[in-house]
Amino acid sequence: MNGTSGDLRNNIEKTLITADEIAARVGELGRMISGDYVSSVPVLAGVLKGCFIFMADLARSISIPVEVDFIAAASYGDSTRSSGVVRITKDIDMSITGRHVLIVEDIVDTGLTLDYLIRMLKTRNPLSVKVCALFDKPSGRKLDIKADYSGFLIPDRYVVGYGLDHDERYRNLPDACLLKEEH
Ligand code: IMP
Repeated sequence: MNGTSGDLRNNIEKTLITADEIAARVGELGRMISGDYVSSVPVLAGVLKGCFIFMADLARSISIPVEVDFIAAASYGDSTRSSGVVRITKDIDMSITGRHVLIVEDIVDTGLTLDYLIRMLKTRNPLSVKVCALFDKPSGRKLDIKADYSGFLIPDRYVVGYGLDHDERYRNLPDACLLKEEH
C-alpha cells in the first residue's frame, strides 16, 4: 500500500461545510440552472478531477436535458497554489459550436485556470460559456473573473473533500474540510 493508512480525517482541522449543507446548495444551483437554460440543452463541461462529485450531484439536480463532458487542466505550481500556467491534459470530446456551455468547476481561487478555459472554449464559437463553481475564494483572485453560479464563498484556506484533494488524497471526504495549516 502506498502512503500512510488510517483515519481519513487525519490532518483535518475542522469541517467547513457539511455534506448536508452542500447537498442543499447544489439543489438550489440545479434549480437555477434548470430555469435559466429551460429552452436549450446545455453542455456541462466538468473540470477534472475536482469536479467529479459535484458534477454527479449537480447533474442530477438539473431537471432539463443536458449533455455531459469533461476537460482536464493541469496547472503548474506547488501542491496548494496554482502558478497560472495552464495545460490541457484532456480536452472535451464533443463539438460545442453553437451550444450553450456551462463549465462545472470545484473551486475558483486565483481565477487563472478558469480564465484560460473560458478563452479556449470561446474560440470554438459556442452560443455562450458560463461557469458554475461550488466554492469561491474571492480573496485569492488574481484576475477579475466571477462564476455565474457560485455555491459558497469561502475564506482563503486550503479546502479538501467533496472531490477536492491535497496530493490526490481526501477527495472521498463527504464534507468540505480545512486542512491543518502546517500540513
Ligand atoms: P485557480 O486557477 O487558482 O483558480 O485554481 C483552480 C484550481 O486549483 C481548482 O480547480 C482546484 O483544482 C485547485 N484549488 C484551488 N484552491 C484549492 C483548494 O482550496 N483546495 C483544493 N484545490 C484547490
